[in-house]
Amino acid sequence: MTRYLRSFKLAVLIIFTLVCLLSCGGGGRKNFVISESRSYEASLFRQNCAICHGPEADGKTLSDGTLVPGLRQGEFKYRSAGEIYRHISEGGNGMVPFRNQLTEREINMLVEFVQSDLRGGVR
Ligand code: HEC
Repeated sequence: MTRYLRSFKLAVLIIFTLVCLLSCGGGGRKNFVISESRSYEASLFRQNCAICHGPEADGKTLSDGTLVPGLRQGEFKYRSAGEIYRHISEGGNGMVPFRNQLTEREINMLVEFVQSDLRGGVR
């Protein structure tokens, strides 16, 4: 009985350690929460992009039926910084152009935001 209890305690300890490792470690930027970020680019996103891409960039269907893709995962259409820059600047396929609303510097910040914060460096 004591032996049984000891291995039970050990099992509980191991499970606890595993759960802790899974929830505390790793993950990192994948769990970037836009609504909680105080960064300038996150606020640019909230002001200009969330209306179509959703508050956490998970994508959305607009009232006119336009399917707006999520920016975090999936098959990315635009991968390189140049492609993403051009898409934000020129728009297209249902996305509005931002070249007259945002400065070059702000668009570059959003490119970095998409690539690092949202996509976690997957290019
Ligand atoms: C009017 C709605 C709308 C707004 C506002 C908008 N988008 Fe988009 N966005 C879209 C649509 C629709 C697409 C899909 C375009 C396509 O398929 O080529 C898209 C695509 C993208 C993509 C490419 C995703 C991929 O698969 O590679 C990026 C990156 C992006 N948007 C970033 C932004 C950023 C950053 C902002 C804010 C500055 C923004 N969008 C604002 C509608 C919008």
